[in-house]
Amino acid sequence: MTAKWDEIDQCAQQWIREAGERIRASFAEKLTIETKANANDLVTNVDRGIEQFFAAQIRRRFPDHHLLGEEGFGDPLEALDGIVWIIDPIDGTMNFVHQQRHFAVSIGVFADGVGQLGYVYDVVADELYWARKGQGVWLNGAPLSRLRPVPIAESVIAVNATWLMENRRLDHRPLVRLAKEARGTRSYGSAALELAYVAAGRLDAYLSPRLSPWDFAGGMVLIEEAGGVVTNLNGAPLDLLGPNSVLAAKPGVHEEILQRYLSR
Ligand code: IPD
Ligand code: CA
Ligand code: CA
Repeated sequence: MTAKWDEIDQCAQQWIREAGERIRASFAEKLTIETKANANDLVTNVDRGIEQFFAAQIRRRFPDHHLLGEEGFGDPLEALDGIVWIIDPIDGTMNFVHQQRHFAVSIGVFADGVGQLGYVYDVVADELYWARKGQGVWLNGAPLSRLRPVPIAESVIAVNATWLMENRRLDHRPLVRLAKEARGTRSYGSAALELAYVAAGRLDAYLSPRLSPWDFAGGMVLIEEAGGVVTNLNGAPLDLLGPNSVLAAKPGVHEEILQRYLSR
């Protein structure tokens, strides 16, 4: 496949910055907030408007590319053939609604299922995490260091409090032990930002028992390019077409969490 990656990257960066401007401008407008799967699963007119903006731009400029998006303005995909953009227009909608900060636009661009470009844009901090396969990871134009192993006792691990108490998705007890043995835990409310923080070395690991492809696609490209490891909680590769559990971490930390806290 001969894709024009410079052109695709240039467009993605321009569109993601424009999306950020639109989102910041929306703070002055009245939000329309609806719920989706449950009362805490929020979506706003801005989430939908931003995904429609990306869909229109991609279809106009790259009519042969495909789009997988959270809000349903993409294509019904059954395979990852060709070039696929996986987009979450606002990751951390609850933060967007309640705090007007700590949310991100997330984009991963894949060629036949292989991550080529990753973007996580922290709109309010104006921080763009960017990776291109083979070219490292960058934050607002400055290169980030390659990830190195650290002991669990010196690790800061991102995990939502939900998974440290009894829940229907996983056995919380090994994770309580992990939380006790780690240096600290954090929860920021945006999987995309938490993955970007792993890529930047601000967090040593992040885990969740259930994320959708748009939550992790951009962050996964960042972390893999930084030398980190992203799998499901069984250590298997992620499926980009459906929900997955996710364990993303520095090398070494990933293996240790899998072996000491997650294997049965
Ligand atoms: C959510 C956020 C959150 C994660 C949820 C996601 P959304 O995405 O990433 O941190 O825990 O599982 O659904 O709905 O704000 O795009
Ligand atoms: Ca999301
Ligand atoms: Ca979203």
